Amino acid sequence: MEQKVFIKYFSGTMSRGTRGIVFLLAIALLAICAQNTQARVTLENGVKSKVYLSPKIALHQGSVANKYYYDMEFPKGHIAIKSFNAEVVDEEGNPVSLKETYLHHWVAARYYQRKGIKEPKHYGNLGFQQSDHIPAGNAGVCNSASGLSQFFGLGSETRKTSTHVPDPYGIEVGNPLEIPSGYEEKWLLNVHAIDTRGVVDAMGCTECRCSLYNVTVDEYGQPFKPNYAGGLYCCYDETQCKVKNGLESVKRNVYMKYTVTWVDWSESIIPVKIYIFDVTDSWQYTGIHDCLIEFDVEQSTTNECMDTRRSKSSFPIAGDVVYGVAHLHSGGIGSALYGEDGRVICSSRAIYGEGNEAGDESGYIVGMTTCYPKPGSIKIANGEVLTLESNYSSQKSHIGVMGLFYILVAESSTTLGSPVQIHQESKVPIFFWGVAAFGLAIFAAIVVAYRRRRQNGDGYHSIAT
Ligand SMILES: *[C@@H]1O[C@H](CO)[C@@H](O)[C@H](O)[C@H]1NC(C)=O
Ligand SMILES: *[C@@H]1O[C@H](CO)[C@@H](O)[C@H](O)[C@H]1NC(C)=O
Repeated sequence: MEQKVFIKYFSGTMSRGTRGIVFLLAIALLAICAQNTQARVTLENGVKSKVYLSPKIALHQGSVANKYYYDMEFPKGHIAIKSFNAEVVDEEGNPVSLKETYLHHWVAARYYQRKGIKEPKHYGNLGFQQSDHIPAGNAGVCNSASGLSQFFGLGSETRKTSTHVPDPYGIEVGNPLEIPSGYEEKWLLNVHAIDTRGVVDAMGCTECRCSLYNVTVDEYGQPFKPNYAGGLYCCYDETQCKVKNGLESVKRNVYMKYTVTWVDWSESIIPVKIYIFDVTDSWQYTGIHDCLIEFDVEQSTTNECMDTRRSKSSFPIAGDVVYGVAHLHSGGIGSALYGEDGRVICSSRAIYGEGNEAGDESGYIVGMTTCYPKPGSIKIANGEVLTLESNYSSQKSHIGVMGLFYILVAESSTTLGSPVQIHQESKVPIFFWGVAAFGLAIFAAIVVAYRRRRQNGDGYHSIAT
């Protein structure tokens, strides 16, 4: 199953005739390259697409998988990523409903690995020798120990959230000039899924309420803080959420299926940088981008049933916003990023499902609306202080929720005022600083827990609202 290669063809932007030809080509290619992991379809406009499967993830009722797959399959070469979509499928390749397997999150992160060393084989998050691996994360804004340095990542909303990067932009990867000599570029996939078949409280399991899990200490053997009610500390890999009495164990294998589209790099593509904001970022109070990732929403005691949180961050470059999307958990309503003058940079709303089918599960966020500003219409100035606002319903309490915002920005070279070479040269040292300071723990994306405990004596503190 892991070896199987799926080939997909685009139909949206093509005429009927072209579509037919592409379809035939795809079939032919499928026949020829079914066992070839490099198989792919090249389209007229140069956009390539390939569907991959993660290794098999074995689940049973109430079980949790939080897996780290190093050296995940990913397009090779100097390319520009145009989209990255993912979902959970079963052995037959059918989409699995969030009501059965809740996709807490998936994250894809880039790193450099020293040539000739052996791949970490286990699926935990501590498999790296620091000097052999260099994280190569996104452009900011949370500090590099925050565990938010991924390039791509979504959760339950993955099926109905657009990730397409519009022309003429692209996310540049595999640039040989950026890869430190003696290293090669690789990708890590982290998948966190919770099997909620037969559980006593599905929402409670998906929120990782500690009372429902068979844990007394966290993944690192540390006791929980007194008021810690739930979150990623309580639903780590191979923990068990409470199931109904007398249930017979039914195992099931699932896979994360992910589809990457890309174009070969060319000078006509404008590279975009990835920035992720977190509503728990303490920058406005401490001057440091300390992002806690998770927070709790208390049940409202008044008629006002909205929990609104805000955080501020100074933006490190000047540029044009090309794409934006928020990440919220169940209970989330909407989130927006505002400029210093109060203008809306992007507003993103949660889309809830209404039925039972995969992609439309009632009670779950099945998509987030996205922003595609007209090129050049939404600018951010260098050093501008942005405000992230995140709204949750507080009709009920929510545990371990998130308020993230992801934007793609094309740096405005005209306002840089410095020669391009300087910009190029500054890239490598940044990576090395990262290594020196934090090692690989940096991007083991959801190692929030560890970091929080080490950086904050009192841990788990809630942010100011
Ligand atoms: C929780 O239960 C699962 C399945 O029964 C078991 O494999 C795991 O070791 C348990 N974990 C803890 C922390 O007790
Ligand atoms: C969040 O809620 C506040 C208060 O109801 C409202 O003024 C604001 O527009 C909301 N923001 C978003 C992004 O939904």
